[in-house]
Amino acid sequence: MKQLLQERISTRSLRVGVIGLGYVGLPLAATFAEAGFHVTGIDTDEQRVDLANRGESYIPDISSATLQTLINAKRLSFTSDYAALDDIDAVSICVPTPLRKTRDPDISYIISAAQQVRAHLHPGQLVILESTTYPGTTDEVLLPELESTGLKVGLDFFLAFSPERIDPGNPDFSARNTPKIVGGITPTCTELALAFYGAAVEKVVSVSSARVAEMAKLLENTFRAVNIGLVNEIAIMCEKLSIDVWEVIDAAATKPFGFMRFLPGPGLGGHCIPVDPHYLSWKLKTLDYRARFIELAAEINSGMPHYVVDKISEALNEQRRSFNGATILVLGLAYKRNVGDVRESPALDIIQELIARKAVVLYNDEYIPSLTLRDRTLHSQAVSSGLLQAADCIVIVTDHSYYDVPWIVGEARCIVDTRNMTRDYKDEKIFRL
Ligand SMILES: NC(=O)c1ccc[n+]([C@@H]2O[C@H](COP(=O)([O-])OP(=O)(O)OC[C@H]3O[C@@H](n4cnc5c(N)ncnc54)[C@H](O)[C@@H]3O)[C@@H](O)[C@H]2O)c1
Repeated sequence: MKQLLQERISTRSLRVGVIGLGYVGLPLAATFAEAGFHVTGIDTDEQRVDLANRGESYIPDISSATLQTLINAKRLSFTSDYAALDDIDAVSICVPTPLRKTRDPDISYIISAAQQVRAHLHPGQLVILESTTYPGTTDEVLLPELESTGLKVGLDFFLAFSPERIDPGNPDFSARNTPKIVGGITPTCTELALAFYGAAVEKVVSVSSARVAEMAKLLENTFRAVNIGLVNEIAIMCEKLSIDVWEVIDAAATKPFGFMRFLPGPGLGGHCIPVDPHYLSWKLKTLDYRARFIELAAEINSGMPHYVVDKISEALNEQRRSFNGATILVLGLAYKRNVGDVRESPALDIIQELIARKAVVLYNDEYIPSLTLRDRTLHSQAVSSGLLQAADCIVIVTDHSYYDVPWIVGEARCIVDTRNMTRDYKDEKIFRL
C-alpha cells in the first residue's frame, strides 16, 4: 500500500480529494492541481460547487482565471456527491470548526465529513484532517469512525492531521509557500502525509503525532490571541496615562530582538483567532484545568467593541450630541483589511450596540455589499463628500487600503479611528484608540 501511494505521489497519478471548499479548501485544491494532480473538490453547498465548476471563484485568494485554467486542463473538478471519494487516493478535510452559542467546540462538520469518508473508505486511502480542532480529535474522533469499517490504520489506510495556516488576503504567503506541519497516527501515516504535501507545498515539517500537530496550530493562534489581548490592554492603559499607544509600539518595535509587534484594534474577528483558543480551553476544562491566559485574553479582546462605542460616545459628547438620532458612518465591516470576511467581526458588535443606543448607522465596505443583523438589512454606501459630511461621527473599523484618508479627514466632522489610519493628522476632531 505504502509503496503504491508513494509511487502515485511521485508520478502525480495520485487522485486528490478536498472536502470543504471555503477559504482553506478551495486554495488547497488549486495548489494540488497546479502541482500536477487531478483534484476533486467536494462541498455540500451546491451553489459553491456550481460556481466553482463554472470557474467563478468566490474566494478572493483564488482568481477565477486560475480556476478556469485548471478546469480546462481537466485537473480540477467539483461535486457535492461524496461517491467521488470511491476514486480518490488522498483526501483532505477542510470543513468549518465553529463554536456553539455556549462557546464550546462544534465538531459536527468534522463528524459528518468523517462519516462520509467512512462510507467510501477503501484500502490504500490517505485521509488528512486540516480543520483546526482540539488535541485528540484525529485519534479520538476520526480514527474510531474509520476503523469501524474493519480496515486498520497504518496498514490498510493512513490517517494524519495537518493544520492549515493560510492567511487570507496575504499577498506574500499562499498554500504553496507556507510551511506545512504533518503528524500521523503511525510513522507510516506521517511519512505518507509528508510525501503528499511535499509534492505541492515548498516546505513540510513532520512531528511525532497528530496531537502535536493539532496542538502546534492552537499554540500559534493562542499566541496571537494572547498578544493581541496584551496590546489591547496596553492601549487601554495608555489612554488612562494620556500616552499615544501607537507611538509606544513604534518605539518598542525598534528593538531588533525579543519583541514582536502586535497592534491594538476594535476586537478580534475571523474564523480563527477568536474561536480556536476556546477549543484548547474546552479540552483542558475536561481535564479539570483552567486555561487562564486564554480566558483573560478573550475577556479583554471581546470588550474592545464596547470600548470603541465608549470612544464614539466621547466624540459625540464633544459635539454636544447623544447617540439618539446621531448619524454614525462605519468605515469597514470585514474583520481585517482588504478581505470580505465578516465572520466574528467586531464591526458587528459595534453596530449592534450603536443601533441599541438609537443611532442611525450607515456603513461602507466595498467587499461586503449588504449586512443582515437580526431584524434589519443594511447596505454598503458609496463613500462621497455628502456621506462623509452628513455623519456626526465616522468610525474607522477596518483599514481597507482603498480609503482615501486625507479626503476623509478633510470632509469629516469627527472621526473615531481604531486602526491608526489617521496617524499623520493632529486634529481635535480625531479620536484614536
Ligand atoms: N479561514 C482561515 O483563514 C483559516 C486559516 C487556517 C485554518 N482554518 C481552519 O480551516 C477550517 C475551514 O475553514 P474555512 O475558513 O475554509 O471555512 P469556510 O466556512 O470558508 O469553508 C468551509 C466549507 O466547508 C463546507 N462544508 C461544511 N460541511 C461540509 C461537509 N460535511 N462536507 C463537505 N463540505 C462541507 C462548507 O459548505 C464550506 O464551503 C476551519 O477549521 C478553520 O478553523 C481557517
